[in-house]
Amino acid sequence: MTLVDKIVKLKKDKKAVVLAHNYQRPEIQDIADYVGDSIELSSKAMEEKEAEIIAFSAVDFMAESAAILNPNKKVLLPTLGARCPMAQMLTVDEIKRWKVLHPLVPVVLYVNTLASAKAYCDICCTSANAVEVIESLNAETVLFGPDRNLAEYVQRKTGKTIIPIPEWSFCPTHLLFQPEDVQILKMQYPDAVVMVHPECSFEMQKAADFIGSTSQMCRHARENNAKTFIVATEEGLLHRLRKDNSGKQFILAYEYAVCPNMKLNTLEKLYMALKEEKYVVTVPEPIAKKARKALEKMFELTNKS
Ligand code: 13P
Ligand code: SF4
Repeated sequence: MTLVDKIVKLKKDKKAVVLAHNYQRPEIQDIADYVGDSIELSSKAMEEKEAEIIAFSAVDFMAESAAILNPNKKVLLPTLGARCPMAQMLTVDEIKRWKVLHPLVPVVLYVNTLASAKAYCDICCTSANAVEVIESLNAETVLFGPDRNLAEYVQRKTGKTIIPIPEWSFCPTHLLFQPEDVQILKMQYPDAVVMVHPECSFEMQKAADFIGSTSQMCRHARENNAKTFIVATEEGLLHRLRKDNSGKQFILAYEYAVCPNMKLNTLEKLYMALKEEKYVVTVPEPIAKKARKALEKMFELTNKS
């Protein structure tokens, strides 16, 4: 039996589903029951009824959100140390410090945060709905963390005052993209459409024809008639883009844009996770209860629109 066959068998025997983020290795995306961006995966996890186990092939905060939104399921993260470094940049103490400075200002947190941080916010957002979430608030000033680039993007889009908390935090992978690389690629592919994730710098965003979450990029590529796309996000997305769009060409704007934490998950680790039912992700209920409220508010808003 191949490793893939063994995983397929374990999924069936244990009533497990595999959810994989768009940045996962191709072989994991190919075996997953669902591949998506962070909002889609959270929504799938929340709505999952049949399965007893959700194997979440991604990083810590995504699996934590699944455990918060569907507390009756066993949520597994195949690699114990698969952490998003940006999520680590915003601590509870930091949020409390900013709340003291701006007691009447709402706190919006990107889902790329730990559950303990989410417990201290008014509402969560993802890169797919950040603008919508901020626009929905009856406030002209908002505390927003932890991605400074996303905060600036939202400020430009909404015209509201967005205070980034902490002052400077970022995704190390998306910071690798440089507009100079795009300029060089554009000389080679003048008709290419440039798609950029909002975690990239302002300079990169200025070079974009389209800015969106990973799955929004997939939709844009499908619906756009262009034949060539320059893509500024983690390299894993290119597998899905190529698979879904035969006949179109996708070029990574920076060859080495890899999220090392996302790539910690391998087929072997997924197999072991399903076999030994590890590593179970749990969030203490007092924290989960508050974080759930912030996540559910986001879903209520996005489902309404
Ligand atoms: P998406 O929600 O666009 O998939 O982004 C998640 C992420 O971690 C980007 O680095
Ligand atoms: Fe975190 Fe960046 Fe990796 Fe996304 S790509 S999981 S934001 S480090």
